[in-house]
Amino acid sequence: AQALCGVVALDGPSGTGKTTAARKLATQLGAGYLDTGAMYRVATLAVLRAGIDPADEDAVVALVRRTRIEVGTDPGAPSAFLDGAEVGAEIRTEDVNRAVSAVSAVPEIRELLVAEQRRVIREATGSGGGIVVDGRDIGTVVAPEAPLKVFLTASADVRARRRSAQDAAEGRQSSPDQAKASVQRRDHLDSTRATSPLRAADDAVLLDTSDLTIDEVITRLAELADGRGLLG
Ligand code: DC
Repeated sequence: AQALCGVVALDGPSGTGKTTAARKLATQLGAGYLDTGAMYRVATLAVLRAGIDPADEDAVVALVRRTRIEVGTDPGAPSAFLDGAEVGAEIRTEDVNRAVSAVSAVPEIRELLVAEQRRVIREATGSGGGIVVDGRDIGTVVAPEAPLKVFLTASADVRARRRSAQDAAEGRQSSPDQAKASVQRRDHLDSTRATSPLRAADDAVLLDTSDLTIDEVITRLAELADGRGLLG
């Protein structure tokens, strides 16, 4: 089997199939998988549990500085930890969805988490391994040296439909209208924030997934990685 070496940066808004594609691609290529969104979600969960207002930047930064945030890199078994306790399910609630954009817009929070993301990437690639990194600013900020950067897009309707299907599959209630409003609100906040907004790197490959199945997306990504000479 072909194995990935180096970093694949996968950016884009939610509902593009990014996370599913990133995990399957990493599995197929024997690589690690880093879900950077999960790190912002763990930080947000800590803020909510502490009863801190997500808009109170100083309090948010003080809390996150003393919180241990870890995410696993096994694409077959995603995991997230807050001070050592597994919180994989708790970070996907609508409360976290609502607050995560405010927390992730704080520059000091990004600095802390980007440093940790770079450490994980170095560890994964140091010995010639590969890692697929899923986020919003991977190609622009976290790993601008990545040899392959892909920016996934999809129409708003398709993204809302995928999001509500995902919610249903994971046992959360949400109508397509609610999912659409939630997805659009978060994308707007993420794209317009001052620090590291959601944006394609100048040298990213744009991939519109509206009319593609997950398998087609993965095939395309593997072809791109092969084309860059990243498959050994
Ligand atoms: O990928 P996700 O939906 O789990 O991400 C949750 C939020 O975290 C998203 O709304 C914006 C933020 N985020 C970010 O600012 N930078 C990243 N690299 C990843 C996620």
